[in-house]
Amino acid sequence: MRGARPRVRGGPALQQRGGLADAGAGARATVSHLGLEARIGGYEAAERSRDAIERVYGASAALIGSGPDEIAVVENATRAWDMAFYSVPLGPGDRILTAMAEYASNYIAYLQVVVLAYPPASCSR
Ligand SMILES: Cc1ncc(COP(=O)(O)O)c(C=O)c1O
Repeated sequence: MRGARPRVRGGPALQQRGGLADAGAGARATVSHLGLEARIGGYEAAERSRDAIERVYGASAALIGSGPDEIAVVENATRAWDMAFYSVPLGPGDRILTAMAEYASNYIAYLQVVVLAYPPASCSR
């Protein structure tokens, strides 16, 4: 699979981001869709690509052994992580276990939850 990927400046670390099995296919589909949007407009391109977009849910579900209705496709990793994290009802006394390798945007969500549970005195004046 790695050999099928387009060459990316920045070396192996950059190529490992995102975890795509075939980054070339993803890049080709993205560029193709952007070209379609440029030619006919975003809404029309989405409508024309509706079947392909819908197939993402079934294919993703088959990959992880879930139902298509358990798959959510969102615009980026931070949004996906936030949706999962903020769905956990946390409050005073709860603890968040995390790791040194946590992504910065995840840490911002941790801080927000802590501030909501324990508002700083200076904010309440
Ligand atoms: C572990 C991890 N989380 C989140 C992100 C942010 O991704 P996005 O820009 O899609 O929100 C990255 C980006 O490299 C990442 O490596």
